[in-house]
Amino acid sequence: MTATSGTVPEVGGTRPGRLPLRLGEREFPVPVVLAPMAGVTNAPFRTLCREQGPGLVYVSEMVMAAALVHGNDRTRRMVGFTPDEDFRSLQIYGSDPDFVGRAVRELCRGGLVDHIDMNFGCPATKVTRKGGGAAVPVKRNLLRAIIRAAVTEAAPHGIPVTAKFRIGLDDDIVTFLDTGTIAEEEGVAAVALHARTARQHYAGEARWEAIAELKNRVRTIPVLGNGDVWEAADAVRMMEETGCDGVVVGRGCLGKPWLFRDLVAAFTGATVPGPPALGEVAAMMMRHAGLLCRHMGDEAGIRNFRKHAGWYLTGYPVGTEARRRFSLVASLGELASLCDALDPGVRLPDAARRLPRGHTNGPITVVLPENYLENRDDMTVPEDGAIRIPSGG
Ligand SMILES: Cc1cc2nc3c(=O)[nH]c(=O)nc-3n(C[C@H](O)[C@H](O)[C@H](O)COP(=O)(O)O)c2cc1C
Repeated sequence: MTATSGTVPEVGGTRPGRLPLRLGEREFPVPVVLAPMAGVTNAPFRTLCREQGPGLVYVSEMVMAAALVHGNDRTRRMVGFTPDEDFRSLQIYGSDPDFVGRAVRELCRGGLVDHIDMNFGCPATKVTRKGGGAAVPVKRNLLRAIIRAAVTEAAPHGIPVTAKFRIGLDDDIVTFLDTGTIAEEEGVAAVALHARTARQHYAGEARWEAIAELKNRVRTIPVLGNGDVWEAADAVRMMEETGCDGVVVGRGCLGKPWLFRDLVAAFTGATVPGPPALGEVAAMMMRHAGLLCRHMGDEAGIRNFRKHAGWYLTGYPVGTEARRRFSLVASLGELASLCDALDPGVRLPDAARRLPRGHTNGPITVVLPENYLENRDDMTVPEDGAIRIPSGG
């Protein structure tokens, strides 16, 4: 089944037997969320994914709260949604409750978003060394103050706030159950767990058993599972095995916006189509690159597209030289020639269907502010003005 843009799927058939995913006033019959991915989930990418799977939640790139308050062109573009995005989801991060509150107030008063997701899982050194991202849950009181600031500003506008976090800093500092409880107590609409520690980064398998544990602890709001959904069947299995209320899908859709079509099929009891032949992949590449060039200008657009080219071609037997050329592509015209040279009938070998895309590295050393762990109950706000947007969660 190919879902078309604007048609929200009917749910029935084989989906796990829970209620639709509810975020504030909105219900999502297919409980699937596109994970925020810095440098990836911009408006063009969300458009392609939405066309494949209408009616799901598609979260934008992460934006720093302080940058929203101070405002600059790059940040404003990141908050840009297309007119047909009827559920505008934005992820923000910050370690200062005041900045977070002000950012949420501006977003809500300006009518710029329909949903705000808060990042408490980013393991990037640039962020954690200032006490942001994955470092925040270590300080329970500060975490609570940040969440409270966001929910207080968003609630009068009916905007749901969700929180996304990891298992903890490492196996010694495990925070996810406390974080889930605090989020629930502070009025968050749903929580999402990337079932790895920050130290694990992206290595190894996600520990789905932690998702089940969180689901047992957090009883009154939806719990979403995240980590290692590579194919639609993984999402159904995650819900069955952990009891979670929905799934958040990251790397599995890199170079594969069709995953959302497959997910809709899997949750509505339709037949899940197989991976597309190379001709369809090439047409999607052209469309994606074209949208990026329109969104950010020709030069930046095609440069941004290069990493996507590698993901689109993952597993297809196209040869090393073709791969190299795609990775250096410099214009839409050149991309068209490279695509024309591909054999449109080539199919993805079965063995390649679950090849990982995006980050797979780890473990890493998680860098914290000096003496950060000495008093985990203090409310000292790390100086987050200097944090710059990195890639990661
Ligand atoms: C390129 C890239 C960028 C990411 N950026 C963010 C981000 O900005 N915010 C966030 O919460 N997570 C971010 N993540 C993490 C994903 O949202 C997700 O939690 C993680 O990839 C695990 O899910 P997966 O196994 O489905 O990929 C990023 C991941 C990747 C690969």
